[in-house]
Parts: sequence; C-alpha cells; structure tokens
Amino acid sequence: MTNIWVKNFAKRTERMQSSTIRELLKISNLPGVVSFAGGLPSPDVFPVEEFKHACQVVLETQASHALQYGTTEGYLPLREMIAERSRRYGINVRADNVMITNGSQQALDLIGKLFIDAGDNVAVESPTYLGAIQAWKVYGANFVTVETDENGMIPESLEAQMHHKPKLLYLLPNFHNPLGTTIPKERRQRIIEICHKYQVPIIEDDPYGQLRYEGEHIPPAVKLDADLRGNDTENYQGNVIYLSTFSKTLVPGLRLAWVIAPKEIILKLVQAKQGSDLHTSTFNQYVVQEVCKDNFLDRHIPIIRNVYRERRDLMMELIDELFPDEVKYVRPQGGLFLWLTTPPQLNTADLRPIAVEHKVAYVPGGPFHANGGGDNTMRMNFSNASEEDLREGMKRLSLVLKSALV
Ligand SMILES: Cc1ncc(COP(=O)(O)O)c(C=O)c1O
Repeated sequence: MTNIWVKNFAKRTERMQSSTIRELLKISNLPGVVSFAGGLPSPDVFPVEEFKHACQVVLETQASHALQYGTTEGYLPLREMIAERSRRYGINVRADNVMITNGSQQALDLIGKLFIDAGDNVAVESPTYLGAIQAWKVYGANFVTVETDENGMIPESLEAQMHHKPKLLYLLPNFHNPLGTTIPKERRQRIIEICHKYQVPIIEDDPYGQLRYEGEHIPPAVKLDADLRGNDTENYQGNVIYLSTFSKTLVPGLRLAWVIAPKEIILKLVQAKQGSDLHTSTFNQYVVQEVCKDNFLDRHIPIIRNVYRERRDLMMELIDELFPDEVKYVRPQGGLFLWLTTPPQLNTADLRPIAVEHKVAYVPGGPFHANGGGDNTMRMNFSNASEEDLREGMKRLSLVLKSALV
C-alpha cells in the first residue's frame, strides 16, 4: 500500500527535507533539557489578557465577518495599520502594497512559487535562515552563497557572485538568524547598488527589526532602495520585497505576517496564495487588528525588548565567565540569537548528542550553510530561557565544550 504512494511521489519531493531545527526541537524538549535550540519567543511576554479581551470584542461585535471567508490579500484594516506603521520607517506604501500571509514562512514559499524555476540561482548569505533554504529547494533553487562577517553580508563577495546571475538575493539585514549580525547603513546601500547594477531583486526578511536592544535604528533595504531610485511616489515600485511578521512582537502561534511589494507583485502573490489556502485565518486577523489598534505595539514592544535584552546580556556574561576562551561570539544588537564559533577541530553536530546527554541543547551551525561548511559553529537562542535556565544551561554547556576541547 505504502509503496503505491511512494512511487507516485512527484519528482520535486526528492528535494523536500524535514527541517533540521524542527527535528532537533523534538529532542530538545525532553524533560530536564535546557534548550537554547529553538527560535522561540518567550511566553512571558505574550499579551494573553489583551487577546482574551480582543477575542470577546470581535465575537460580540463582528462575528459574522470574523468567522466568514475573507479576501486573499487580507483584512483591510489590518493591512492599513501595517502600511501606516511601515510609513513611520520611511517605507512609503499603502494597503494595496501589503498582503497578509500565514507567517513569513508562507511568504517565502509563495515567493519561491512565483520566481524560482528548477535550476535557478538564488543568492543567500552564508549562513542563512534554514526555512528559506527549505522553502526554495523544493522549487529547484541552486544556492549561490555570499560571505558574511560581523557586519553581515559582505558586498564585495556579493558582487563576486553576480556572474552566476542570481534571480533573487535573500537578505537578512537586522539581527540575522542565525548570525545575530546587523548590516550597517553604508553596507546596505552598497548591496542595493550592486543589485541595482546587476538587476537582481532583493527579498528583505525582517522578522526581528523591532527587537533592537542597543544602537540606532538603521533604515531597511526597502527604504534605502526607494531613496536610491528617488522613488517617493504613492505607487511603490521598488526592487525590494519586504517581509515581516507578528510572530516575534506579538505571538507566533496565530501565524500572521505580511509581505510588502509593488502592487503588480502583490497581485501575483495573491494568485499564488489562493491555490494554497484561499486566505489567512479571518478570525486571527480581526483579533490581531483589535489587539494592535490604538498603538498597542508601541507599548508592548519595549517590554519585550527589556526582557530579551536582559537575557542576551546574561548569556554573553556567562559565555565570558564560563566558556573556553577559544569559543568566540558576535555581540548581537537585537533579535533572538547568539552565534558561536569554536575551534575548527570541534564538530558541533557530533557534540550535540553529548550536550543533550548533559541536558542542554543548541542548534549546530552546519545546516544553515546552503552549500556546506560551518561545522564548528552553533546557534544559541536566549529569548526563551529564564534566568535560572540560562545559568544552569550555560554551566552544563561550558562543561561539555571544555571536555571536548581538552
Ligand atoms: C529569518 C526568518 N524568516 C522567517 C521566519 C518565519 O517566521 P514566521 O513565524 O512569521 O513564519 C523566521 C522565524 O524564525 C525567521 O527567523
């Protein structure tokens, strides 16, 4: 029986893989294991009371719409709110430049559906977000990897890869997952100029932009691109598709995110999304709009920043105090992750089961590298661990690393 199914799998399924992280999370969630593995926001900052209230209001006042089918683009007042908030950051867009998706992960998939034919090259940072690799591999993308340093993507390395004629550049400018790095303004401008010169559109993925713990806000690529082309009109026509999400500033479980793009691209994305789910949950959109009206996020995000900043600081402090000196990290200005590099002889994937035996978990860095490498790197999440877990987990990991490095 099973064989009949398996032999009928489409060719593209050969390129489908389980997410390494999702598999690891299952192991990391065993009782007693302190996990720095997931990219989980902390439930300590979920605005539960606001959601309770909003659910009640929506059901009492708008049930007939909120429980009905909706439009594929998404709930208009929510899209208007997103456009308004985007304009604050100089992203000059209107609601018809915004489409709501089931998480940014769906947006990545729809972008793959729209742009990637089998064999197309896509330029990505090395390392990059695993979910993008997973989404685009299915469509047959080949990944052209661009080198990074403590300031994110290196423009010279990008230009050196342009002879591969990538169809897209995937860029994580703020508090990179997994690197934690932030691309400075001048570098962003340089990257945009290179993409402009070689006519390569940019997918800017910015789930963490609001979670800055130090330093100044840096304009997103979508704004810098518009500046470069003097495109300050009502009709956004830029070279950048911008993604962001409510997963990190509100809650991830509702799966609500958005795409900002020129209207023509939104139209195509809508067609792509229709075939996949008709639309994102109407009820969830109404509830999030109800929670967020009256600028709730302006009051809520500073609370998240304070909690995560403390956890980041404690994790860095514990590394400085406990870890072998040869283990290096990049200080993240925001986001959820610290990226560790160990001496080259240490393979963090091999070390992981030993760490789990010692009841601590992390994600080995290798799978984030689209074309291999990074075996001596690891990603550590600090947002989802209490102070007690941080102290205990980092102590356990320091012992594991020390015994591996003797
Ligand atoms: C860089 C990046 N893009 C996209 C996503 C997916 O986010 P969402 O929960 O909106 O699907 C994540 C989640 O961790 C991420 O780190």
